[in-house]
Amino acid sequence: MSIFSSVELAPADPILGLTEQFLADASTQKVNLGVGVYQDETGRVPLLECVRRAETEITPAPRPYLPIVGLPAYTGAVRELVFGADSPAVAEGRVTTVQTLSGTGALKVGADLLRAVTAAERVLISDPSWENHRALFTRAGFQVGTYAYYTPQGVAFDRLLADLRAAAPGTVVVLHACCHNPTGFDLTPAQWDQVVALTAERDLVPFVDMAYQGFAAGLVPDAAAIARFAASGRPFLAATSFSKSMGLYGERVGALSIVTASPDEAARVASQVKIAIRTNYSSPPTHGAAVAARILTDPSLRAMWDAELTGMRDRIRQMRRALADALVAAGFRGDVSFATAQTGMFSYTGLSAEQMIRLRSEFGVYGTDRGRICVAALNPANVGTVAAAMAAVS
Ligand SMILES: Cc1ncc(COP(=O)(O)O)c(C=O)c1O
Repeated sequence: MSIFSSVELAPADPILGLTEQFLADASTQKVNLGVGVYQDETGRVPLLECVRRAETEITPAPRPYLPIVGLPAYTGAVRELVFGADSPAVAEGRVTTVQTLSGTGALKVGADLLRAVTAAERVLISDPSWENHRALFTRAGFQVGTYAYYTPQGVAFDRLLADLRAAAPGTVVVLHACCHNPTGFDLTPAQWDQVVALTAERDLVPFVDMAYQGFAAGLVPDAAAIARFAASGRPFLAATSFSKSMGLYGERVGALSIVTASPDEAARVASQVKIAIRTNYSSPPTHGAAVAARILTDPSLRAMWDAELTGMRDRIRQMRRALADALVAAGFRGDVSFATAQTGMFSYTGLSAEQMIRLRSEFGVYGTDRGRICVAALNPANVGTVAAAMAAVS
């Protein structure tokens, strides 16, 4: 008798399961718009030139363990990138930034920390949200609820405010800083002001997830929500990642920043976050953080990264326009404005599960059942095929 004899087979991850189906599809015209990875105009995941150069400039060296909280050059540079060079919260010693296993690791370490050292036991995520938010916070011991977010015309802002207003004090609220996954609809600056004020008034704990810094409008404007929360003087957490912005997906390069009320509180929280890391994976890996630190601190590599990031952002924008035009030309029955009104790597097309299944089975175009497509995987060679398929099922 094995201890595993009654273990049930878990359902396949909705996104990774889609990739498996895609790989098994014999169609020569197939297009994978399921997974959230940026691809260039030739359909390849690019190795950024700034990353390639940084890797050649880093002298091969022994790999002892990094400190539990990560490479100091990296965490310092990330804090400046995320909070800005003259952030009062940073200058006042209220921000603790630790290296994590990408954005996912930051969310998990943050969730573990909150459960271990605060009374927080309930978290609200947007409806819909990145699938892993619910799973990750549930595993960390939270009760997970949702706040309203989506209408086909944009953010359901009044209902969002009503849901946050109804939340009990101490509730953690996960907010997407920019490029909301999966809808592509972001809050306006004025809406962020209202959310910052409301979370303060209701004594909620904002946990800002910024997985796409630089993909909406630029590195500084995309971090505006974090700057606003920091200016409010209230405690909050921020998870950040270089998976998308530096194309360092497999290197797992991210950070968790915790903003506290005082330097003394920051020191105590920093001591506790070390325990959260130590009991998960002990200390983070060296290579990706060394690459990112080099890019962030070397002026010429930093300028190259800015230019490459701008190139990715502009290409996504062009593909959004091209998709809207191609949908109209193909006779898509429905509103095509979603393509250009939304930002970032994803679009919510408004197509139903049945239509998405038809897209896959009849046309080899793979998106999620909830109608999400990765516009960062479109290119001049496949956008016409995708639009024609979407028009056919519309
Ligand atoms: C909203 C959101 N948060 C976090 C992540 C985590 O990505 P990573 O762990 O590669 O940083 C993703 C990735 O798709 C995401 O979409």
